[in-house]
Amino acid sequence: MEKKWWKEGVVYQIYPRSFKDSNGDGIGDLRGIIEKLDYIKELGADIIWLCPIYQSPNCDNGYDISDYRKIMKEFGTEEDFEELLHEMHKRGLKLIMDLVVNHTSDEHEWFVASKSSRENPYRDYYIWRDGKDGNPPNNWGSFFSGSAWKYDEATNQYYLHLFAEKQPDLNWENKKVREEIYDMMRFWLDKGIDGFRMDVINLISKVPGLPDGEKGEGALYGNGFPYTANGPRVHEYLQEMNREVLSKYDIMTVGETPGVDTESAKLYVNSDRNELNMLFQFELMDIDSGWGGKWDVKPWKLSTFKKIMYKWYEGLKEKGWNSLYLNNHDQPRMVSRFGNDKEYRQESAKMLATLLHTWQGTPYIYQGEEIGMTNVRFEDISEYRDIETLNMYNEKIRQGVPVETIMKSIYAKGRDNARTPMQWDASDNAGFTEGTPWIRVNPNYKEINVENALKDRNSVFYYYQKLIKLRKEHEIIVYGDVNLLMEDDENIFAYTRSYNDEKLLVILNFFEKEAEFKLDEGMKFDGAELLISNYEVDNPELKNMILRPYEARVYKIHHGL
Ligand code: GLC
Ligand code: CA
Repeated sequence: MEKKWWKEGVVYQIYPRSFKDSNGDGIGDLRGIIEKLDYIKELGADIIWLCPIYQSPNCDNGYDISDYRKIMKEFGTEEDFEELLHEMHKRGLKLIMDLVVNHTSDEHEWFVASKSSRENPYRDYYIWRDGKDGNPPNNWGSFFSGSAWKYDEATNQYYLHLFAEKQPDLNWENKKVREEIYDMMRFWLDKGIDGFRMDVINLISKVPGLPDGEKGEGALYGNGFPYTANGPRVHEYLQEMNREVLSKYDIMTVGETPGVDTESAKLYVNSDRNELNMLFQFELMDIDSGWGGKWDVKPWKLSTFKKIMYKWYEGLKEKGWNSLYLNNHDQPRMVSRFGNDKEYRQESAKMLATLLHTWQGTPYIYQGEEIGMTNVRFEDISEYRDIETLNMYNEKIRQGVPVETIMKSIYAKGRDNARTPMQWDASDNAGFTEGTPWIRVNPNYKEINVENALKDRNSVFYYYQKLIKLRKEHEIIVYGDVNLLMEDDENIFAYTRSYNDEKLLVILNFFEKEAEFKLDEGMKFDGAELLISNYEVDNPELKNMILRPYEARVYKIHHGL
């Protein structure tokens, strides 16, 4: 297998708005990030992914960009950015930036021009269509509720927006659009950044004709997803982008790709395809979604969880590579969703971390994960800020769904769970800001915060630090093959890793209930060294054992198994 720095590294994701405010305006900023680089370095991460920091009216917190080459005023200046990059590289940290090119803001100068008249040369930068008898061009719904089309009175046409109204989709069929984007990418790469995380990059090619989507019973809109995800020209575009831009730099790329399965994933990431290095799959994130989509929360089974993880490992192992994540700025906190954020918060956070950092792929840590930050429950909808959450809330209220039912799904799945400010210490507003934070701090900050974590040798933080260190010491953790044990067991997640003649054995009790781990009859070995565990272990010998709640152990096996 080809060795690469981005396979060996660990990524730390920053949501700048919520990370650290340096000037008391209640909004995190670049100087705040600079202040905390030593903290990230101490954790051991190698690569920082910054969510969008470009100029934006912030209808979707920076995912609606009005100028790709400018820094958002609230976040700082161009000089702050240069300093941030310099301070990162000085510490051996790499920087990957968010690339949001499926859409821009409606305040981007291209869109302003595009909207000004049908004849404007920028008209074709976006996707404009005539209505049908006073209705939108087709029945597609937007990801953020409502129709995916917005009517413009002045020019009597509709424009497509798969996300918010203020996020018009770019027309990638227009070669000029693609060239402008490649140019902009070179602008950042020439400054020395180390790669891109590409926002919903598999949505950039739409099926010509934009046909109506299937409409489920009682649904307000049709499903345009089959006509927008993995569209007919997406690989042509990405190969062009790779040829024109990516291949000229030593960088890493990761695509965010909803609706990609392991077969279609290979087309994006297999190294002989010259497109991307890795992608974020959603199959695991959808494990607890019912028929009604993400807000329709259903129970999940460990056997399914394992099957999904293994399928992705197997699918991409030869020529591709996986990215490993259980939460980010769009997903609830992993310890609340897959672990136990009460009695076993620390144990379960460490157990899940063990999985992410001993499976094959590049692990991503989302800010606060390393101290076991949890979901939040604000009582009133007015405390919420996320446009997806608010639009969904309003739509459901109009449909007559009771408030309690809606709040329940927001508590489980709302994106603001991940966006409450980073908890630095027990002072007011968790040390995030000296002003009023743009979104309230999670009330548990007095207990869960960085200062406490750094004082406690047994904290989740130091466990992550140790996992990352192990990754650096043992190539097998990066490159080793995976083999599942006890596949159908609903309590224990166990697997081996093998590389040359080395072997690791990872045993995870995924739940609160004690569970028995049994060695197979045929497993023979000379000895086993316990590399890490989230509990005190009196007897580190490897044998049949009863695992405690959320117990995790990683053994290095000598000769055999
Ligand atoms: C991606 C981003 C999300 C954003 C959306 C639209 O899914 O991760 O935060 O709202 O794209 O840009
Ligand atoms: Ca600020």
